[in-house]
Amino acid sequence: MTILESIAEVRAFVAKARRANQRVALVPTMGALHVGHLALMTAAGDHAEVVITSIFVNPTQFAVGEDLDTYPRDREGDLAKARSAGCSAVFLPSVGAMYPAGAQTQVRVPGLAAGLCGASRPTHFTGVATIVLKLLNIVGPDVAIFGEKDYQQLAVIRRMVRDLDVPVRVLGHPIVREPDGLAMSSRNVYLSAEQRADALSLRQALDAAEAAWHAGQRDPQAIEADARARIRGGEIDYVEVRDADDLTAVRGAATGDVVLALAVRFGATRLIDNRRLAS
Ligand code: PAF
Repeated sequence: MTILESIAEVRAFVAKARRANQRVALVPTMGALHVGHLALMTAAGDHAEVVITSIFVNPTQFAVGEDLDTYPRDREGDLAKARSAGCSAVFLPSVGAMYPAGAQTQVRVPGLAAGLCGASRPTHFTGVATIVLKLLNIVGPDVAIFGEKDYQQLAVIRRMVRDLDVPVRVLGHPIVREPDGLAMSSRNVYLSAEQRADALSLRQALDAAEAAWHAGQRDPQAIEADARARIRGGEIDYVEVRDADDLTAVRGAATGDVVLALAVRFGATRLIDNRRLAS
């Protein structure tokens, strides 16, 4: 596995792959790799001969007071995991390489980034869209893979790629869960044993919503109220039923596919999860 630290090294590595007629997949991450990330890398290998994982804790998607400084970082552990997942290369840029002095261009996707996580993190998705476009421009992959746990993030990235004609196929990967049902997240390490036990109620609330949906429940407010009632211990940021594609609010009975998305704080740790409810 090749370790790439500069943009020039990435471009040379990808150019070599292109000369060998190899397809290239990109798995953007912020490191602290867990089994969910490794599943993205393995899936990427189904679409390309060359899989590049980027590891970059992107400062512009953290607001002041968020966990940028304490975000878990484990360079050597991450490299070993990426190697075990069969990655061809890992791109580990510095902040200075990604945001050279004077950098000021931002990518905004204002509609999709408003509401849900965007309500409490108003600058977050601009940071995400900007860094993901930069990574796509640097690597130029055929496909890029993102986890569906970050449902709104994936919607923002898909729309950016469509709107800006970025020549890449964006793939979503199903949420990977711990054996007990907690969605995998690099932030799970922050949870106390009690918070972790309470956090299982997120999955239980989503399961109940799915069961109700299959039994014919189509009232978004009833689905949200039931999910809220099932969440234990945490402080709810949002529990919302939205259109599954454009994330607009669902008025009246749902007629198409929706997503039940939620964010809940357990102490200082904010967890997100979701379930697509499809007819
Ligand atoms: O989902 C993440 O880990 C990050 O938001 C991403 C897509 C790597 C951009 O920094």
